[in-house]
Amino acid sequence: MEKRKRILTGDRPTGRLHIGHLLGTLQNRVLLQDEYEEFIIVANIQALADNFANPDKVRENIEELLCDYYATGLDFDKATVFIQSEVPEIHEIFMYLSNFATVQQVQHNPTIKTELIQKGLGDSTPLGFFLYPIHQTADILCVNADLVPVGKDQAPMVEDTRQLARKFNRTYGVELLNEPQALFGTEINVPGIDGAEKMGKSLNNCIYLSDSEEELRKKVFKIYTDPNRIHATDPGKVEGNIAFVYHDLFNPNVEEVSKMKCLYERGRIKDVEIKERLFEVMNEKLAPIRVRRIEAEGMKKELLEKAVVGSQKVSAIARGIADSMKEAMKLKF
Ligand code: TRP
Repeated sequence: MEKRKRILTGDRPTGRLHIGHLLGTLQNRVLLQDEYEEFIIVANIQALADNFANPDKVRENIEELLCDYYATGLDFDKATVFIQSEVPEIHEIFMYLSNFATVQQVQHNPTIKTELIQKGLGDSTPLGFFLYPIHQTADILCVNADLVPVGKDQAPMVEDTRQLARKFNRTYGVELLNEPQALFGTEINVPGIDGAEKMGKSLNNCIYLSDSEEELRKKVFKIYTDPNRIHATDPGKVEGNIAFVYHDLFNPNVEEVSKMKCLYERGRIKDVEIKERLFEVMNEKLAPIRVRRIEAEGMKKELLEKAVVGSQKVSAIARGIADSMKEAMKLKF
């Protein structure tokens, strides 16, 4: 049997997952779990980088994350879900890679730049936080992944991984580390219901997978549309209108969406009609996830056990890769 290619991706356990995660990466994980050997990392050490004073929060969110995974259709017997802190080989691999990354590279990472501004860290950036993008390359390389399904905001980390793998191989004259490809579920980060560029827990603009039907309806009706449109007979703007951005992402009936856009621009359809229809198409997709999530609530212990067992499997694979790296660097005795 031909060896299956590998996927590695994952999340920080800091809160519930939202529709940005669903479209950006979760759907692809489920779609590809048969074709690929799939590894999903629960990045609890990375989560501590900006939550180091709140270990309970990170710990408690592990089960929530596992429930979200199960809810989207991830099969824990096909994909290997594992916990970062149970695979110390990642730190070792990170250390070996760190010679090939530069301080400037991290400083110029657009995702880090945005996060540093959001957190207002400036001159007091903890080293742990600053290291995380390079540590993440070790997450990916610890199983030598071929493919990394992620949201657009993670693109710089995958690019870093490719670069570090290439530099390592070239420097030691080996063909050891893979240069993984990124796989984006959407071409944009899914914007928040308030029109912000990205959904973010701290921005309070998310639609969560665990939201009830009632919460979904409330949020859909709060969505940012065209602030200058007062009456339904005013011509409306479609561009930058989040209701239409979401229709483009969730409504499979392309013809219907383009018809609604036309009517909207001519002031012939009400905001509530657009939103009612949006609620329907979104609920169609989210209702089955909601049902499975409730089922998962009763399985937390079992799911966590699977993640612990999965960690042992990953640890063994990572040991092999770390040893090969040591060999290449003349560190092996
Ligand atoms: N940084 C990712 C996020 O915040 C989580 C993550 C950690 C990850 N390690 C990874 C994603 C490795 C892909 C591959 O969502």
